[in-house]
Amino acid sequence: MAKAEQQVVLSRILLLLLVFHPQVNGLSNTEVDALYSLKSNLIDPDNVLQTWEPDNVNPCKWFHVTCNNENSVIRIDLGHASLSGHLVPQLGQLSNLQYLELFGNNFSGVIPGVLGNLTNLVSLDLYSNNFNGAIPDSLGNLSKLRFLRLNNNSLSGSIPYSLTYITSLQVLDLSNNNLSGEVPSSGSFAQFTPNSFANNPLLCGTLAAKPCPGAPAFSPLPPYAVAPTPMSS
Ligand SMILES: *[C@@H]1O[C@H](CO)[C@@H](O)[C@H](O)[C@H]1NC(C)=O
Ligand SMILES: *[C@@H]1O[C@H](CO)[C@@H](O)[C@H](O)[C@H]1NC(C)=O
Ligand SMILES: *[C@@H]1O[C@H](CO)[C@@H](O)[C@H](O)[C@H]1NC(C)=O
Ligand SMILES: *[C@@H]1O[C@H](CO)[C@@H](O)[C@H](O)[C@H]1NC(C)=O
Ligand SMILES: *[C@@H]1O[C@H](CO)[C@@H](O)[C@H](O)[C@H]1NC(C)=O
Repeated sequence: MAKAEQQVVLSRILLLLLVFHPQVNGLSNTEVDALYSLKSNLIDPDNVLQTWEPDNVNPCKWFHVTCNNENSVIRIDLGHASLSGHLVPQLGQLSNLQYLELFGNNFSGVIPGVLGNLTNLVSLDLYSNNFNGAIPDSLGNLSKLRFLRLNNNSLSGSIPYSLTYITSLQVLDLSNNNLSGEVPSSGSFAQFTPNSFANNPLLCGTLAAKPCPGAPAFSPLPPYAVAPTPMSS
């Protein structure tokens, strides 16, 4: 083999090692770290996260985790798993995540704003937990989101207007919380009914089926807007 040819072969071998060796593949280690930080913050009485061990360098083999062909995490399925604890900001590093299914547990604390970084999310199901605090504005950046179910928690504060910009949104359930203020009715929200917002006694507006304080049920034009046009005689 000529020297130049040898070098080409060597550099190809090196490249293959870089791509396939799990210790060298930075992405998969970031994802292991993110998932392991989540586990470390949870109480798991049924041991559903038993396989989530950092020695197991390939998170794609962990139970309740699904990866794409590039060994990057695309799903976390932990519905009805008896888990308690908080979500960690490291979840924002799972950049290919499409499905975050954490419904029917006992998660508490706030919904971390970094979830707005997960721009590949298709489904964010956090319903039937004990989340409190506000819905982060940053969720409006989830431009591929189709399912957003945050119902049956203790969320408070107003509904971020940014959510109305998610044109892909098909299913929205914010019912059974303690949200307040006016429900936006424009953009993607135009397709939803009061069912999406039910049992939030402090919400108002058309989609809450309750007029906002100070807003008349029928809005007559304010007096200054109806200055009479002089009649020509
Ligand atoms: C979220 O995205 C912002 C802007 O791209 C970046 O500065 C930040 O580090 C990201 N956060 C996480 C946890 O990845
Ligand atoms: C739910 O989590 C709280 C702490 O946030 C804890 O006190 C409570 O025991 C948990 N309930 C169940 C059923 O795990
Ligand atoms: C949404 O993303 C844009 C850029 O992608 C960023 O500038 C902005 O801060 C993000 N919004 C929120 C509320 O995080
Ligand atoms: C949500 O809470 C309401 C009212 O307490 C209850 O009727 C409903 O079954 C709950 N839904 C879920 C999915 O937990
Ligand atoms: C609901 O939120 C309001 C503030 O917006 C607060 O005063 C009230 O205590 C909350 N109610 C419950 C049941 O958490």
